[in-house]
Amino acid sequence: MRTLVIRSIAAVGAAALLTLGTACSNEREGSTGSDSAEGKGFAKDSLIGVALPAKTSENWVLAGDLFTDGLKDSGFKADVQYAGASTTVADQQAQISSMVTKGAKVIVIGATDASQLATQVKQAKDEGATVIAYDRLITNTPDVDYYIAFDNFKVGQLQGQALIDGMKAKKPKGPWTIELFSGSPDDNNSKVFFDGAMEVLKPLIDKGDIVVGSGQTDIKQTATQGWKAENAQQRMDSLLTSAYGGKKTLDGVLSPNDTLARAILTSVKGAGKPVPVVTGQDSEVESVKSIMAGEQYSTINKDTRKLVAETVNMVKALQKGDKPTINDTKSYDNGKKVVPSFLLPPVIVTKENAAEAYANDPKLAALTK
Ligand code: BGC
Repeated sequence: MRTLVIRSIAAVGAAALLTLGTACSNEREGSTGSDSAEGKGFAKDSLIGVALPAKTSENWVLAGDLFTDGLKDSGFKADVQYAGASTTVADQQAQISSMVTKGAKVIVIGATDASQLATQVKQAKDEGATVIAYDRLITNTPDVDYYIAFDNFKVGQLQGQALIDGMKAKKPKGPWTIELFSGSPDDNNSKVFFDGAMEVLKPLIDKGDIVVGSGQTDIKQTATQGWKAENAQQRMDSLLTSAYGGKKTLDGVLSPNDTLARAILTSVKGAGKPVPVVTGQDSEVESVKSIMAGEQYSTINKDTRKLVAETVNMVKALQKGDKPTINDTKSYDNGKKVVPSFLLPPVIVTKENAAEAYANDPKLAALTK
């Protein structure tokens, strides 16, 4: 489905701009959404439910506040809920059911477990609500109307390419020794990020230019349950013990996000090894500081302010009975349907381009001065 071979970060950036261009032109044309969701509209002060996962990274904390304010500013009533830290699936299922019972017209869901929400989204559809999967796709159900996210496959490609670029900058000639980490298996994004990265890394692994020191290349081996920092740190500790004895060093680590990147760096530093090139995602404050200090190599800028604003725009279109803007009808097959999507372009950030990348985000821009 995705065969694009990315040669450099510059090429990816250009592709991202093209995607943005396409998104804008679709917006002007007013592209078609799913049949079931639009047409009737609903009252301007209706209840909108937002069910978010546990606060496993900063982006989710930001999203909750932005949804509360953005929906209220647009005249809606907002019910924004987070799944609890331990019983996340049951929590989220109960929260969605309660939003349906309270008569929410749209339910925006950042799924805590992609495959465990079929009953709740069916209940929402049966009551006439529109279901929007936010950031994470909901799988194995026909009852998801739209998906809105940063292009997750591209996130993975950018991470894979950054890992290569960072290692080449430090050590121009391979072979380079790396380890691979992926996110939580219950989050549909984890495989998409990993597949994107592997599309870039695998040809070099096959040629022997990149060596995975532990030999662990299967996503089942690389997974980080619950996106928890302690799980990534434990796995890195044990990889260092089993595969990096003596003076053996590590050139790079593919980390799917910033929280895990910092845990991996803590582990490597604790073992007294030199700091490898480590990727990330989310532009978390502590990671942007680490990048500026020359430790973490890269992150991804997925501006949560934009993603929430676009989601609120979707809700506003549905309220009026209009079709929300979508720009992708091919990429996100959830096992039951290809979910009409609105995808935003992610941006790779290293120390080199941080000031430029965060220029319109005062909190992060201040860290780059
Ligand atoms: C999000 C990432 C985030 C991760 C852990 C993913 O679904 O797309 O931005 O780092 O969840 O919270």
